Formats: sequence, structure tokens, C-alpha cells
Amino acid sequence: MERTFIMVKPNGVARGLVGEVIARFERRGFVLRGIKALRIDRELAARHYAEHVDKPFFEGLVAFITSAPVVAMVWEGREAVTVARAMMGATDSAQAAPGTIRGDFSLSKEENVVHGSDSPESAAREIGLFFDEAELV
Ligand code: RTP
Ligand code: MG
Repeated sequence: MERTFIMVKPNGVARGLVGEVIARFERRGFVLRGIKALRIDRELAARHYAEHVDKPFFEGLVAFITSAPVVAMVWEGREAVTVARAMMGATDSAQAAPGTIRGDFSLSKEENVVHGSDSPESAAREIGLFFDEAELV
């Protein structure tokens, strides 16, 4: 079984969408292996989004993701990375299909409610950044 790292971003937590996101993953058939609420610091944000360090939106992305608490989760199931990305919808919420999380709850390109790993390798790296092995069940 594959695992993926899913995070409800600060605006998703502030808007009370944590339960909505969890419910969708549960109903799809995924199993929750880890969950925590935390405030991301700049160092963790920079490591998590290291691939974007040279992008023009990097500073804004770090400011957003460190602005308020997030909820980090590990979900397990068949083809978890691909299925979760499909459930989230396109990065730019305006292009996200209705029925996806971003397509149902956001119009923003930056404040797009959820993060999900983009490959199994990214998932392993991101899970390791946010969770100790003992925190996963
Ligand atoms: P994420 O990593 O958060 O799951 O999002 P993603 O894979 O769909 O998109 P990615 O390309 O990895 O971008 C990471 C996050 O950076 C913000 N972003 N802003 N202003 C812009 O052009 C821009 N592009 C990306 C978004 O918050 C995006 O989720
Ligand atoms: Mg990404």
C-alpha cells in the first residue's frame, strides 16, 4: 500500500475545512496513519518547498504556509499519491474541477486549501520531514 502526505493549509484550517478534507479521504477508502496540528516555522517551510526556492512566488508561499497552524496527515491506500492529487484538483483553484477539494472550496492559486505529495518519493521525503516513525500507526 502506498502512503501520501496531505496537509490542510492555514486558510483551510482557519475556514474550518479540516473535517471536510478528512471526511473525503475516509470515504474514498484511505486509512489515516498519522495526524497532527502544528505551526510551520520558516526552516521547515523552506525544506518542504525546497523545489520552489528559486521561484518568484517562494517568499509569498513561505509567508502563507507559516502564517497560522496547519494540519499534517499521512493517508494510506492504493495509488495514494495519484488518487489524492486527483481529489485535490489543479494547483490554481480557478482551474480545479468541481468535485475536487480546491474546485469546491477555493478560487485562489496560492491559498488553495490543501497540499498533497506529487510522487511516492516526495511523499516519503515529506512524511519524514513532518513525522517521526513513532508518530505513525
Ligand atoms: P502543493 O505542493 O501545495 O500541493 O501544490 P501543487 O503541487 O499543486 O503546486 P506546486 O507547483 O507544488 O506549488 C506549490 C504551491 O505554491 C503556490 N503557488 N503559487 N503564484 C504562483 O504562481 C504559484 N504557483 C504555485 C501554491 O500554493 C501551490 O500550491
Ligand atoms: Mg507541489
